[in-house]
Amino acid sequence: MPKVVIVYDSKTGNTELMANAVVEGANTVKGTKTELRKIGEKFPISTLKDADAIVIGSPTLYGNITSDVQEFLANLGNLQQSKRIILKGKKGAAFGSYGWDGGWNTERIEDELKKLGVQLVAPSVSAADQGGVMQMKIHKDDLAKCRELGTIVAKAVTGKKSG
Ligand SMILES: Cc1cc2nc3c(=O)[nH]c(=O)nc-3n(C[C@H](O)[C@H](O)[C@H](O)COP(=O)(O)O)c2cc1C
Repeated sequence: MPKVVIVYDSKTGNTELMANAVVEGANTVKGTKTELRKIGEKFPISTLKDADAIVIGSPTLYGNITSDVQEFLANLGNLQQSKRIILKGKKGAAFGSYGWDGGWNTERIEDELKKLGVQLVAPSVSAADQGGVMQMKIHKDDLAKCRELGTIVAKAVTGKKSG
């Protein structure tokens, strides 16, 4: 069964809400397996080996994606270079949240995914921190966009048509 792996970082829960929405969207596509992994928690990197798509999410911290996400992406580059993992040809997408700097943090992720040879199949979602509590921290329209991102990626790996 085609597998979509979502890897994200989140320090105060906002990007986590987005990651959960991506999973929800992907799960609406029958015949897709999804795996959600948070950077900082233990998981084998080999989980990405048999992934058909990888979706990466990050908050913006001090004008960049988090150092944990940067390190994670750099590790993937090293692993690919030593042929321990092949990401080239897999599908992917990016999402992220920010407070005030605009949505360019997802461009950083997309650049790194492209360098790894990952084919971007969905427009990235970049959401402003609404400063509220619980679900309100990310606007419901942005969460809907995340669900859509998940659905597009899952359809891309199952060969179903989007739209
Ligand atoms: C220490 C710290 C640094 C931050 N730096 C930035 C920044 O440089 N630019 C920006 O737009 N938002 C910045 N933010 C806001 C976060 O990107 C925003 O609150 C985001 O939604 C947090 O995501 P998370 O809850 O998944 O950690 C910063 C937040 C913190 C706590």
